[in-house]
Amino acid sequence: MKYWLGLDVGTGGSRALLVDENGRVAGGVTEPHDEMQMPKPLWAEQRPEDWWRASQQAIRGVLRETEAAADDVEAIGLSGQMHGLILLDKNHDVLRPAIIWCDQRCQDQVDWINSTAGTDMVLEQTANPVLTGFTAPKLIWVRDHDPSSYERVRRVLLPKDYIRFRLTGEFAGDVSDASGTALFDVVQRRWADPLIEKLGIDRSILPRVVESREVTGTVSKIVSEHTGLRAGTPVVGGAGDQAASAVGNGIVETGLVSATIGTSGVIFSHLDKVAYDPAGRVHTFCHAVPGKWHVMGVTQGAGLSLQWFRNQLGRDAVVEAERRDVDPYEILAEEAAQAPAGSEGLYWLPYLMGERSPHLDAHARGGWIGLTARHTRSHLIRSVIEGVSYSLKDCLDIVASLGAGVKIVRASGGGARSELWRRILASVFGVPIATLESQEGSAYGAALLGMVGSGRFGSVSEACRTAIQECERIEPDLDWRSRYDADYPIFQRLYPALKDRFPEMSG
Ligand code: XUL
Repeated sequence: MKYWLGLDVGTGGSRALLVDENGRVAGGVTEPHDEMQMPKPLWAEQRPEDWWRASQQAIRGVLRETEAAADDVEAIGLSGQMHGLILLDKNHDVLRPAIIWCDQRCQDQVDWINSTAGTDMVLEQTANPVLTGFTAPKLIWVRDHDPSSYERVRRVLLPKDYIRFRLTGEFAGDVSDASGTALFDVVQRRWADPLIEKLGIDRSILPRVVESREVTGTVSKIVSEHTGLRAGTPVVGGAGDQAASAVGNGIVETGLVSATIGTSGVIFSHLDKVAYDPAGRVHTFCHAVPGKWHVMGVTQGAGLSLQWFRNQLGRDAVVEAERRDVDPYEILAEEAAQAPAGSEGLYWLPYLMGERSPHLDAHARGGWIGLTARHTRSHLIRSVIEGVSYSLKDCLDIVASLGAGVKIVRASGGGARSELWRRILASVFGVPIATLESQEGSAYGAALLGMVGSGRFGSVSEACRTAIQECERIEPDLDWRSRYDADYPIFQRLYPALKDRFPEMSG
């Protein structure tokens, strides 16, 4: 039997997935990561070594689960959370905790980049405005605030590329993930050398960058002993989690749009030619398809909103889930379904980690507005799902304005496993929500890229056409839709009303 391995280094955990030569999923294992550390408000850090521990366990787990032999695995594709900053010293040891995608500490460094290079140069060189979540300001933050680490930096890597280094000993990245560094020329698909020089960054610390399907190295002997993989197994470039998830959802042609609800939430559309939102509210990045691009809008606190609820206010749901041997989110969804559409005037602002699209505001804060004594916990949970869905609609409308032609949206990610959430999404968006036979998203897309890289398929489009099938469509519920059509404009007016208060709250 031949298999391909997709490995996704997410925020909550690392997932290893094996697919067969027709793209059917043979098995998947997720190993959770340690909780992300937030030593200060707006900070978010994780330990790269912990990702590597989880990745190895997940790989061993999936090989065990599927009883695949080392020789059965033809190639590996990587995907991972984007924008994170991993710094290695001359011995290739990790210098400090990774500053990850949702960290928002870098507004001063964003301002510095804009004043040093000029916003025009940044836009011309990278096709996007620089944002607090992107990698470059994080690197400058380390230069400003942790100079002793900065002096010792010899390599800068993104999360999945650190795992590539551990697997193969190679320093490499791919065009889609590099697009989110604010140091990459998205139009020319290469490092933005003039900008890098202007910012005083040593170009030699950046890895080489390849198209997502290209082989970057092979599994080393020592890793083979620890994971059960064959030494010499090729590892392809892979993609940032959003481009990989889009491949896993078949979003590789114009006219297709996806919604991925993981920790963050993303609306993603394929582009044959580069197109920008003039206000920079959504990102234009290289796609994992050679010579193509994509546009995406990001809600920072999508699944994170419900995860926060579960951890802080849903302990009894976790206990109940253990008793019934089901996922705690199923219990929360059952409770949410008891509240009516619109949650009787209760609104959730999902800005738990600031917000990217459409507000680009690191200081934005989350919360409920509209609470009355009548509201119950069902309303709280439903309003969280609705607030995240409204925020994704903010993204969808901008993506649509760039010519996406949205007739149907393909949903994936943890949040999309909930039928209630998909129905709410369909009713808020006013278009059907489709799910695919494989709901594996990023890890699946990474495995498909491995299949293209090893020659099983001639192109990413061919891989998607062969392997991806829609299995279910949920239509908008007409009653819910008219409720949401009335409530969404109210949601849209809440952020502008509160905007100027948020920086005061940040102290
Ligand atoms: C994309 C983004 C998130 C992270 C974490 O721009 O920041 O999707 O990759 O999943």
